[in-house]
Amino acid sequence: MATVKRLGVLTSGGDAPGMNAALRAIVRTAIAEEFAVTGIVRGLAGLLESEFVELDARSVSNILQLGGTVLKTSRSREFYEPESRAEAAHNLRAAKIDALIAVGGEGTFEGIHKLASEQQTVVVGVPATIDNDVYGTDYTIGFDTAANTALESIDKIRDTAASHDRAFFIEVMGRECGALALEVGLSGGAEAILIPEVGSDLDGVADRLEEGRRRGKTSFIIVVAEGAVEGGARTVAEAVRARVGLRYRVSVLGHIQRGGSPTSFDRALASRMGSAAVDAVSGGLSDVAVGVVRGSIKTLELEEILGRRQPPDEDLLRIAGVLAS
Ligand code: F6P
Repeated sequence: MATVKRLGVLTSGGDAPGMNAALRAIVRTAIAEEFAVTGIVRGLAGLLESEFVELDARSVSNILQLGGTVLKTSRSREFYEPESRAEAAHNLRAAKIDALIAVGGEGTFEGIHKLASEQQTVVVGVPATIDNDVYGTDYTIGFDTAANTALESIDKIRDTAASHDRAFFIEVMGRECGALALEVGLSGGAEAILIPEVGSDLDGVADRLEEGRRRGKTSFIIVVAEGAVEGGARTVAEAVRARVGLRYRVSVLGHIQRGGSPTSFDRALASRMGSAAVDAVSGGLSDVAVGVVRGSIKTLELEEILGRRQPPDEDLLRIAGVLAS
């Protein structure tokens, strides 16, 4: 591998709290290791347009605590095409960028993996998505913050649910992955949690609420991942109401879960992962992502992790059900 002198860095896919902390870590570690750094604006889409900006240590001052991403982000459909990836490699070479660090989720990792295989670009991924659905890492940057944001809302909704003797069907993000719903369902004391990976038994939910009422419960929280059922929490609420007569409201938390200042956990995770990604480049690695496994930072081959899914921890579902009895 040719000597790396200049690193490119981008954030791509859905923004996640802690992306800025990762960017700061990447830029400052790179400078400490005597690399020059180019920021690529708007993710993989910006790479196709050569939207480049020179970064130094001061460019990333006072961003550690900010949600979103100061580099901006996008979801690039074009990058799925091999011709676009050839164009991307050309743009990197023209800007004398020898290695690319991409902060994002699985879609971003697929893109950079193809860039590495087809164009021999040196690439390293840093997992950041509120969904926590990147295989091989216990946590992705942003998940902890999103969980805490959603939990704060669920706690507030519980006040109203209890005061009015109502059921609340609360929809949290997660089209394909129920990690966020499971986490906040358990920590928010939900009577039922519905996630995309497990078939949604709406009659079972209705039975559980009915059973809860027999045991004296007067209010209920049902957490629904957006992809658990076609139509999300509204569909679940209507199906359950058809079987159990109850007063209910639906609350879709939506994009408030993506924004906001990262938690201490996410800032520390992003700082460690960002720094490790630069170390991976200096250590001559490519076509890898960094991850955290039982507290330790690891490098993971992209080939090994792409297209795989960690099965949901069904024990959490069971425990949540028992504890909400
Ligand atoms: O991948 C993060 C995520 O927030 C998912 O949980 C959600 O399904 C999706 O992005 C929403 O995407 P968008 O912001 O493009 O509507």
